[in-house]
Amino acid sequence: MKLKESKTYLNLAKSYAGECQARTRYEFIEYGARQQGFKALAELVDKVVYNEFNHARMFYTFIQQSEEKQIENIDISSGYPFKEKWDLLENLRLAAEDELNEAEKIYPEYARIAREEGFPEIAALYENIIQVETCHNKLFTQLYQQMKKGTMYKKKEKVKWKCGDCGYEATAKEAWQECPICKAKQGAVMLKIEDEG
Ligand SMILES: [Fe+2]
Ligand SMILES: [Fe+2]
Repeated sequence: MKLKESKTYLNLAKSYAGECQARTRYEFIEYGARQQGFKALAELVDKVVYNEFNHARMFYTFIQQSEEKQIENIDISSGYPFKEKWDLLENLRLAAEDELNEAEKIYPEYARIAREEGFPEIAALYENIIQVETCHNKLFTQLYQQMKKGTMYKKKEKVKWKCGDCGYEATAKEAWQECPICKAKQGAVMLKIEDEG
């Protein structure tokens, strides 16, 4: 089957659109986090933003490998999430939800179709990206839980905190309000994320 005549061709275009949008939604989160002083959180989200860019790039690359010499337009019809508003906590929860949807519903289906249509490399791309989106889901879930429970910078046991700006470290239940070396605020203290993947 020719790629340009396949369902996979349209699925790649939908996936590209989805990744571009996810990237922008996470930039919204990053923007909000920076405005509220959560610098370390913003930097973690920025890594996810870059991951989504690269997923978009790879979907785009496969689209360009189709038989079409010059792709003028791809007409797709699909639904995308528009749930997010400007609430940082809620957006972390929604991001986790969106990641799970990609990892458990959308991409497994696209991988299956790609394999059925005879595009094993594209199926493998989807399968590998599913692993990443699963890690993103875990990350956003932890960020949401920590922010909601107030445990981002306050733990039950003593832990080692590290300033993301100057590298100062200290062991305590709660992170400092202001770094004793560089005076960076608490939001610059690196976050404790388990099994980030
Ligand atoms: Fe992605
Ligand atoms: Fe993701």
